[in-house]
Amino acid sequence: MKKVYIKTFGCQMNVADTERMLALLTEKEQGIPTEDPKDADLIIINGCSVRDKAVHKAVSFLGEQQLLKRNSPIEPTTGRKGPIIALGGCVGQLDKGEVFKRAPYLDFVFGPDAIDQLPELVDRAERGQRHFVQVEFDKTLSYSTQTKIQGTKAQAFVNIMKGCDKYCTYCIVPFTRGKEKSRTIQETLDDVAQLVAGGVREVTLLGQNVNSFGKGNPNTQGFEPKELHNIIGKVGPRAGEENFNQLLWAMERDPRLEKLKRIRYTSSHPLDFSDELIECYAPNGVTKLAKHLHLPVQSGSNRILQKMARHHQIEHYIAQMDRLKEICPEVGLSTDLIVGFPTETEEDFQQTLALLDRVQYDNIYAFAYSPRPGTRASKMEDDVPNAVKNERLNRLLQHQLKIAKNRYAERVGQVMEVLVEGQAKHQNMIKPDAEGQSLGRVWTGRTTCNRVVNFIDTSARNYLGQFLKVKITASTSLSLQGELVHDPHFAEQSENVSYSGSYTSAVTSSEVVG
Ligand code: SAM
Ligand code: SF4
Ligand code: F3S
Repeated sequence: MKKVYIKTFGCQMNVADTERMLALLTEKEQGIPTEDPKDADLIIINGCSVRDKAVHKAVSFLGEQQLLKRNSPIEPTTGRKGPIIALGGCVGQLDKGEVFKRAPYLDFVFGPDAIDQLPELVDRAERGQRHFVQVEFDKTLSYSTQTKIQGTKAQAFVNIMKGCDKYCTYCIVPFTRGKEKSRTIQETLDDVAQLVAGGVREVTLLGQNVNSFGKGNPNTQGFEPKELHNIIGKVGPRAGEENFNQLLWAMERDPRLEKLKRIRYTSSHPLDFSDELIECYAPNGVTKLAKHLHLPVQSGSNRILQKMARHHQIEHYIAQMDRLKEICPEVGLSTDLIVGFPTETEEDFQQTLALLDRVQYDNIYAFAYSPRPGTRASKMEDDVPNAVKNERLNRLLQHQLKIAKNRYAERVGQVMEVLVEGQAKHQNMIKPDAEGQSLGRVWTGRTTCNRVVNFIDTSARNYLGQFLKVKITASTSLSLQGELVHDPHFAEQSENVSYSGSYTSAVTSSEVVG
C-alpha cells in the first residue's frame, strides 16, 4: 500500500475533503496515511485560493516537493521519478493545469468535485499517465455523499451542501466550488445516524451558506413546506423545498441520534439567517444545537457592505444578534471581517470597531483584503495601501482581545461542560514539583459556546471524546483554564467507546492555514 501525505490549506471544507480522500484511498487499499512527506509515495496538496497568501503557501509547498522527485531513482515500468504528486482543492480547481509549465514534476491536478474519483486518478498516475487535469464540476442538480472519517472519533464534519450562489464581490469561492446544491434531509439523517452508531457525539454541519440548505433541491422528500423569514424579508428555500430548520428539528427528533449531544454548523450569511433559526436557540428549541453562532459580517460600514454585495445593512445584522442574545443569553458569537476593502476609509473602519463593541464577540477571524482574479472587486482599484491594511488589522485584533478578555473573565467560577478534543499542544500549564517532576497532563476541549477550556489531570485516564464538567479557575483573551469536577460516577457515565488515540483538536475556526 502506498503511503499518503496530504497537506491541507484553507477552511473546514478542505479539512473534511482531506479526511474523505484519506478514507477513500484506505477503503480501496490504495494507501495509508503518513505524517512525513519524505516517506510518502503519494503527496497531495489540498490548496486554498481565498487570499493571495494562501495560494502562495500551496504553491511554495509544491515547490519544496521538487527535491523529492529529483533525488529519487527512475521507476523502470512507469518512467516516473519519486512519489506521485497531485494538486487539489480550490487551487487545483482554478489552476486547471497551467501549473505544469512551472512545476513539470507535478503528476496531476484535480478539483473538489473530483475527490470521489481520486482512486482512479491515482491509478492513472500509477500506470504512468502524467499531466492530466480533472476539474469538471458535477452538472447534476442533486448532491449525495456519505461522510467518511478515519478511525473512531467523537466529532465529525458533515457536508450538507456545497457551492455558493452569493457572489460577494471579493470572494473566489463561487468560482472554486460551483453552484449551491444540497443533500436531502433523509440522506443526512441516515448518514449522521451511522456516525453516531460509530461513536460520534458532535457534528459540524458544513456548507458555505448552510442557511440556504435545500434551495433548488429536486429530491425533497415531503417535509412540510414552510417559508422562513427575517428582518430583511423572506429568506432561504422556497415553500415546498426542504430547509435548514427542518433539518435541525429532524436531527433533534430522530431516535437514532439520541446519543448525539451537539450540533454545530458553519457558515451562514446574514441575508439567509432566519428568525425561525434564532428560535431554535430558545430553551424549548433544538436542545442539541450548540450555543454558538459564527455569522460572518465582513464590515461594520453600510457603504462597504454595499460594495461587497452583502445585500443587507449593519442594522439588520445587529437586530439579529440582539434577538439571538435575548433568546439565548449564554450564546457565544464569532464572525469574519475584512479590512482594507477598496475605498475603505478610517471612518468605515471605525464603524467596524464600533460593531465589535456593540456585538461583543468571543472571537473574530479578521483578514486584510486580497484581490482575487475574476471577482467583481478585483476590477475596483485596490486603493488601501498594504501598510494601512496591516495597521487596521492589528488595531482590530487588539480591540477584540480586550473585549474577549472581559467576556472570558466573566466565566471564572462557573462549571461548564467540555467535550475533550485531545491533549493540549502546550503542556506549560503544568509546573514541575520540587524534584523537577511534571505530574499530569493538560487536556483541551470546548464548551457548547465554543470556548476553549484547558485543564490539568493527574490520573492516567483517557478523556478523549468525553463530555466532562470543568470548574473555570482562570481566563485569558483566547481560552479558559479550569479544574475537573471529579465525578465519582465517571466510569459509569463515560462512553464505552475508545476513540482513536492520535486525534488532535478538531478545527472549528474559520481558517486552518492561509
Ligand atoms: N461562506 C462563508 C461566508 O460567507 O462567510 C466563508 C467564506 S470564506 C471561505 C471565509 C472568509 O474569508 C470570509 O468570510 C471572508 O472574511 C474572507 N475572505 C474571502 N475572500 C477574501 C478576500 N478576497 N480577501 C480577504 N478575505 C477574504
Ligand atoms: Fe464567499 Fe461566503 Fe460570500 Fe459565498 S457567501 S461568496 S463563500 S463570502
Ligand atoms: Fe476553498 Fe475553503 Fe479556501 S472553499 S478557497 S478552501 S476557504
